[in-house]
Amino acid sequence: MAKTEVKTSLLDNMIGVGDMVLLEPLNEDTFIDNLRKRFDHNEVYTYIGSVLVSVNPYRSLPIYSPEKVEEYRNRNFYELSPHIYALSDEVYRSLRDQDKDQCILITGESGAGKTEASKLVMSYIAAVCGKGAEVNQVKEQLLQSNPVLEAFGNAKTVRNDNSSRFGKYMDIEFNFKGDPLGGVISNYLLEKSRVVKQPRGERNFHVFYQLLAGASEELLNKLKLKRDVSRYNYLSLDSATVNGMDDAANFRTVRNAMQIVGFLDHEAQSVLEVVATVLKLGNIEFKPDSRVNGLDESKIKDKNELKEICELTGIDQSVLERAFSFRTVEAKQEKVSTTLNVAQAYYARDALAKNLYSRLFSWLVNRINESIKAQTKVRKKVMGVLDIYGFEIFENADNSFEQFIINYCNEKLQQIFIELTLKEEQEEYIQEDIEWTHINYFNNTIICDLIENNTNGILAMLDEECLRPGIVTDETFLEKLNQVCATHQHFESRMSKCSRFLNDTSLPHSCFRIQHYAGKVLYQVEGFVDKNNDLLYRDLSQAMWKTSQPLIKSLFPEGNPAKINLKRPPTAGSQFKASVATLMKNLQTKNPNYIRCIKPNDKKAAYIFSETLVRHQVRYLGLLENVRVRRAGYAFRQAYGPCLERYKMLCKQTWPHWKGPARSGVEALLNELEIPVEEYSFGKSKIFIRNPRTLFKLEDLRKQRLEDLATLIQKIYRGWKCRTHFLLMRKSQIVIAAWYRRYAQQKWYQKTKSSALVIQSYIRGWKARKLLRELKHQKRCEEAVTTIAAYWHGTQVRREYRKFFRAYAGKKIYEFTLQRIVQNYFLDMKNKMPSLSPIDKNWPSRPYLFLDSTHKELKRIFHLWRCKKYRDQFTDQQKLIYEEKLEASELFKDKKALYPSSVGQPFQGPYLAINENPKYKKLKDAIEEKIIIAEIVNKINRANGKSTSRIFLLTNNNLLLADQKSGQIKSEVPLVDVTKVSMSSQNDGFFAIHLKEGSEAASKGDFLFSSDHLIEMATKLYRTTLSQTKQKLNIEISDEFLVQFRKDKVCVKFIQGSQNNGSVPMCKRKNNRLLEVAVP
Ligand SMILES: Nc1ncnc2c1ncn2[C@@H]1O[C@H](COP(=O)(O)OP(=O)(O)OP(=O)(O)O)[C@@H](O)[C@H]1O
Ligand SMILES: [Mg+2]
Repeated sequence: MAKTEVKTSLLDNMIGVGDMVLLEPLNEDTFIDNLRKRFDHNEVYTYIGSVLVSVNPYRSLPIYSPEKVEEYRNRNFYELSPHIYALSDEVYRSLRDQDKDQCILITGESGAGKTEASKLVMSYIAAVCGKGAEVNQVKEQLLQSNPVLEAFGNAKTVRNDNSSRFGKYMDIEFNFKGDPLGGVISNYLLEKSRVVKQPRGERNFHVFYQLLAGASEELLNKLKLKRDVSRYNYLSLDSATVNGMDDAANFRTVRNAMQIVGFLDHEAQSVLEVVATVLKLGNIEFKPDSRVNGLDESKIKDKNELKEICELTGIDQSVLERAFSFRTVEAKQEKVSTTLNVAQAYYARDALAKNLYSRLFSWLVNRINESIKAQTKVRKKVMGVLDIYGFEIFENADNSFEQFIINYCNEKLQQIFIELTLKEEQEEYIQEDIEWTHINYFNNTIICDLIENNTNGILAMLDEECLRPGIVTDETFLEKLNQVCATHQHFESRMSKCSRFLNDTSLPHSCFRIQHYAGKVLYQVEGFVDKNNDLLYRDLSQAMWKTSQPLIKSLFPEGNPAKINLKRPPTAGSQFKASVATLMKNLQTKNPNYIRCIKPNDKKAAYIFSETLVRHQVRYLGLLENVRVRRAGYAFRQAYGPCLERYKMLCKQTWPHWKGPARSGVEALLNELEIPVEEYSFGKSKIFIRNPRTLFKLEDLRKQRLEDLATLIQKIYRGWKCRTHFLLMRKSQIVIAAWYRRYAQQKWYQKTKSSALVIQSYIRGWKARKLLRELKHQKRCEEAVTTIAAYWHGTQVRREYRKFFRAYAGKKIYEFTLQRIVQNYFLDMKNKMPSLSPIDKNWPSRPYLFLDSTHKELKRIFHLWRCKKYRDQFTDQQKLIYEEKLEASELFKDKKALYPSSVGQPFQGPYLAINENPKYKKLKDAIEEKIIIAEIVNKINRANGKSTSRIFLLTNNNLLLADQKSGQIKSEVPLVDVTKVSMSSQNDGFFAIHLKEGSEAASKGDFLFSSDHLIEMATKLYRTTLSQTKQKLNIEISDEFLVQFRKDKVCVKFIQGSQNNGSVPMCKRKNNRLLEVAVP
């Protein structure tokens, strides 16, 4: 939900309050509570008006992605939740679009995240400003200056593993388009004491460790160094390595960065040589050497290290050795040389190391500036970023000169903050035409004055003490302070004239206390004078100037004997004061923006919020004071347009649209909400709200209203959705209903139509039938009438004519009618007569039932008649033939199966033309009678059933058998001796001629023949016998009969033969008594 939400105001989904100005009630507890609440929810940024408070999360949060950059890009400051990007964007856009030079002041205690914040600002600016090869190079150089400065200026401390041990102010210059052109870096107060001594658990500057860890063996040899950290007195051993820090890799990064920034190879080499020199200086040790005058003179213990230093720096060894042993004081053109004791020699050595390193650092800054300086002379817009330590308060009066200087700087920054904030506020009031009411706030000018006043300020006193001839100690300095500042209300000292503190045991004798705007700080006076003097013996600077190495030479210009300056160099305090003054001047010309960094715990750990630690920082950063100044007039202001847009839903007149100018809309809105008039003022373009609670009231109302509106929108949307759905359903339902109705109507119509048609057809049918009935009835009536009329007329006529008829007239009429019918019948028959062919079966149908018998009789007569007619046409021969055929029919029809096939064969009798054939001449001559049959037959051999061909001859009286070939008569049987002819009932030509027993012919037995003309032969034999003997020949038709063979009787049996025999009957003698004939 939260992801997709579009934010339009800082007030949306706030955790606690995003802007402390809105805190109600405002006190330290609520302030810290709000910070903690937001910290617990990963909201590490909070505003105090336009000031950004940043709590170090000590872990990487996903809020610095390129997407976030885009999110904050070109958005108004209060539009999104507080973020360093919002501030950076505001600053960059004001610079680019409003042509106002800007500065960002980042303060906070060590480890609070100042340096990280400055890097975030720079990376944001680099991401949103113009692009292009040249611009990118400038950006890259500006960004890469950081690793170089961090290597030389940062160190691990107990508070921060990467603590900046210098103050840094960087001016980034832009052209009118907002593209970066270059930059200028100023450094403040490098903590050079660290070079020679580090507190427990801390390290020297990173570069020493990086060099030893990351340099190649070759480079180390060149620099006459050994990789072992423990060999160097200036390097602390107890924390030589830092967790999560790879010194070797960082060394490569630094060298690479130096290259990008534009260091030439020999320059980089010289820088490393100076670093090596500093390291080796620490290894020079002194021993006391008693001199004649009884004074102790220091001597260098082991000259080897000195020799190497001299080789590295190109200084004459004796010169340097002397510089470590003597000190020359010049006064009034007189040179006095005194020997140094061991302590002084160590002091001189350390002073040289510190100076060498701090001057190198300044040289580096200048060298970087040279590289990154803008190449053009056009007018530039400037954005300054100040990363400087915030108030430093150590407990147990551990605060020394450095803390004093730092706190002074912060006091000045607070002053400028108050000045500029109030100025800005006032300017806005004037701009908006709002009455300016005096704001009560604590003005810290008085504290600044206590420190920097040229006549009786603490710094002036210190300088005075340092320059004073005679014995000067820290105690004399404190005494002086006690005299001069005793009455100052922010100065506290036990020994002051002011009796207030005489018995204050919390105030040690060697300390003084200043009531800074952020709280009281107890300063230990020890070291003030020395540190302010920052003394380097002239012999040493002169010795250094004599080097052959140009870089070192340039670091000690005061060593040049030609430019001997008897004036003391400016003290550290006055130098710092001057640079702070320059800085303030610089800042005053710019529009200030503040980032106040807070450290949540001392453990460098994430998620821990130590209330006491935060309370302490809130106090000394003067954050509550910040809020009060911001809130002095009106807590909240907003342009009319956005204000109306945000709250317009709270008033009926302005919701949903306000037609008039935004200001009157806001007026109407506030009137309707009955906000007391003293709670707000109308500016020219902004509404000013005095108390945060009024704003929160508006916010609460808005939240409530938004919920109502959301419900309303939801309601309307749901209504709309339901209605749309309903309308769609209704439309669909209508369509469906219409289709269904159409379908139903169609169905109904078709059903009705077909029913109507059925009914119609029934009705029509019924009507037609009725009509038909009526017509029929009518017709019948008419016919009946006619009949009745006819009968009636008949009756009338008969009645009329009865007198003319005799009795039986009816019978006569009947007979007459009958005659007429019969007459007509016969006449009709005459016309319909069938043909005369006896085989024509046609006969006309009978017209009347009573003529049935007549009709049949007539048919019979007609048939007989036409048969007769047919017969009458025959010749005598034909008649004989038909007679014979008739005889055959009577004898064999339905008795012998062979008969039907004989009907169609004409009986020819003599098939063999004996008369004509000369072969049978003898036979012909032997026969005198008429030959009735002459035909070849098969005579069956009685012994074996085989057959032999014989000529069969029938004459009027005899039956003859002759040889077929020779024609010689073989047997002659008188017809009177023939008693019987036997044959089967089947379709074969076998027949037996039985002879009279005892006759001559019968001696050989009966004959058994087979012939193709059996029927003709048997018929002719029968007829001839009958005509000659007047006796009917016995013809036996049986399938089994006896034949006399000589003395035996043989049974001839006819059986149904198999088809294998072919169509010829087969005769076979089975045994003595049986002859079997197989008929096919
Ligand atoms: N915004 C941040 N997100 C995550 N970690 C951070 C953030 N700011 C600071 N830190 C962590 O805190 C450490 C200290 O931050 P930084 O070096 O910026 O402190 P500083 O205020 O510059 O301290 P000093 O005054 O000692 O230089 C960083 O090394 C980093 O680990
Ligand atoms: Mg820092």
